[in-house]
Amino acid sequence: MSVSSLDKEMVEKLTALARQNGIDIKGGKVRRTSSRFCLGVEHGDYNGTELFGVGTDRFIWMAYKPNGTDKVRLFSGNFPGDGVIEFTLGDVPDPKSEKTAHTWGRFPYGVDYILRREGHKLTRGIDGVIYGNIPGGGMSRSASLSLNLILSLFEANNIKMEDQMDIVDLAQAVENDYIGSPCGKLDQIMILFAREGMGTYYNPGKRSVDYVSLGEKAEDFRIVVMDTGTERPGLEKSTYKIRRSECEELVSILQKGGYDISCLADIKEQKVYDKIIAQLGKSHPNLCDRLKYVFAAQRRFYEMLEAWKSGDIVTVGRIFRQDGIGLRDEYKISGPELETMCDIVRTVPGALGERMLGGGDKGASGALVRPESVDAIRKAVESGYPRSRPAFADKYAVHVCRVVDGVKVFNDLL
Ligand code: GLA
Repeated sequence: MSVSSLDKEMVEKLTALARQNGIDIKGGKVRRTSSRFCLGVEHGDYNGTELFGVGTDRFIWMAYKPNGTDKVRLFSGNFPGDGVIEFTLGDVPDPKSEKTAHTWGRFPYGVDYILRREGHKLTRGIDGVIYGNIPGGGMSRSASLSLNLILSLFEANNIKMEDQMDIVDLAQAVENDYIGSPCGKLDQIMILFAREGMGTYYNPGKRSVDYVSLGEKAEDFRIVVMDTGTERPGLEKSTYKIRRSECEELVSILQKGGYDISCLADIKEQKVYDKIIAQLGKSHPNLCDRLKYVFAAQRRFYEMLEAWKSGDIVTVGRIFRQDGIGLRDEYKISGPELETMCDIVRTVPGALGERMLGGGDKGASGALVRPESVDAIRKAVESGYPRSRPAFADKYAVHVCRVVDGVKVFNDLL
């Protein structure tokens, strides 16, 4: 198992945090979970589309060990003010309770709650320390954390899941039912299954995952994430929730009108689409705009997948950019700072495509970039972004990412 210098640095950090906070991880394991980058269809998961994405090298590391009791004791180096999160298995606050709204501890509480609800009674507690470098908003920090906690507690309790998709469902339930975030499954799938150098393709109809390698002739490229430095509140408090319900509303209007669909992704034929726009364009312009994005992005998805397979990264980038414009103008889920980043990056030759990432409003934008243009992009952001968005001049960051495995376990570093 290859251990990078960053992994070693993190293990040292975690060891120091454990010592300072009276957490015993000696002889334990380190589980590292990645972030993710979606290439399509962004906002397609809860609309029923196929999905494609990769794992990226911003991570959450958790060093942990069973502690021989039925208590969980965890400390996060990202939220030191929350202190040690300590609870007895099976005894956690109620879902969505005010008591837990402002602590990261709601994630481990939620994991215990959901696993128990789903019949996996945990009896062996752990001591653990966590640290992550995934920026908030756009790269799936919360899914990475939920998965890390579930996998680590399963392992400590000797619980094995046959179908990995069940783990995705559990992690989603932690966010939907305990935290109260209305997220879909995209993030969990793209992290849990991610493989170095591969794209992950998900078919919702079959609940299946396949790996698609980038065509051999592909020119080299980089994934660049531009963190705007803004803070994105939970999805339950954002435009995300509104978009979800708008899409559901449109589906229900169409069902009542006799269309045989269960989600917007079921509208695949041009004829059907044209008929809907003709019928509802005037009375429901906003709902039709949401459909316009989903319909067009779903069509582009297949083109993008073919381009990926043949190594045509220029086309992948072009589609990524088109998706971004649809997300901005039709789905209306982007935000001013996210678009400032895109507008800056777009001016640099060698930027193949750029758009907002993930849930929307705030957080991070992303770009596909030729390697030789990375420096120019960085410089453009460094001069343009603070001028446009002075309030975030000290907070923004540019991350150049590699495609990596979603989950790695290091057995003998502690
Ligand atoms: C967030 C959600 C995902 C997905 C994306 C948008 O990351 O958690 O389920 O809907 O937004 O593609």
